[in-house]
Amino acid sequence: MELVTEDNITDLAVQRWQTAHDPRTAEVMTALVRHLHDFAREVRLTEAEWIAAVQWLNRTGQISSEKREEFILASDVLGLSMLVVQMNHRLDPAATPATVLGPFHIPGSPELGFGGDMSDGLTGVPLYVHGHVRDLAGAPVPDARLDVWQADDEGLYESQHPAVDEARLRGIYRTRDDGSYCVRTIAPRGYSIPMDGPVGDLVSGTDISHFRPAHVHFLLDVPGFEPLITHLFQEGAEYLDSDVVFGTKQELVVRFEQREPGPTPDGGSSDVPWAEARYDFVLQPRG
Ligand SMILES: [Fe+2]
Repeated sequence: MELVTEDNITDLAVQRWQTAHDPRTAEVMTALVRHLHDFAREVRLTEAEWIAAVQWLNRTGQISSEKREEFILASDVLGLSMLVVQMNHRLDPAATPATVLGPFHIPGSPELGFGGDMSDGLTGVPLYVHGHVRDLAGAPVPDARLDVWQADDEGLYESQHPAVDEARLRGIYRTRDDGSYCVRTIAPRGYSIPMDGPVGDLVSGTDISHFRPAHVHFLLDVPGFEPLITHLFQEGAEYLDSDVVFGTKQELVVRFEQREPGPTPDGGSSDVPWAEARYDFVLQPRG
């Protein structure tokens, strides 16, 4: 029998986790054990630090809910989410790039028609985001489903308004036969990630900027194409070059043109000044 020593414990743990019945689980868990042990050795992890880390993980789980995903936020600020996105979505350069889902997506948003207003009753500058959904050859993609969500003009999401129990600034849109879509909303504002939880505790002890540039989130899951999770960022917005979750890509930076009162892209008109963002999503066929 081989007894445990500081020198052999990694090999022993790897041997045990190699017995996982699923080969991929065995591969992932043995690599995790090796890297965790190497990490602990490299920083000479103390017992106080170990228990602090366990308590931090506990708090991260406890503060999470159906509407708050603190573990996703932790992954986002460590750059892990964006790394995983990039490794798994090596798309054609002509396709719209993917970014992180982020912690604020809520499934089951209401279905809205072409130009439907997902900012119903909220104050802010009216914003029309419109364009087409196309394939790599430029052909329109009809009936493509766009799941859209964003922060309000104070930089807050629905889940950060505890009193709100109706869908707020989120909606499902579909392209028309010519591939066109039109989202009516209000201009979002850049925002701080939630700083009142364990992720905020960690970040506040650093010089890391905890802000994200103004953006609107999109999720396109269209049969026959790679699912696309992405954002559109406002050109010229603050924090474009320091996005705390590493999500900004040049291809996704879009001008928000300021427009005078008058006709709007949904076929209606606006009595007040409004903003227009045009963007064509290009989907990659499923590989
Ligand atoms: Fe966001």
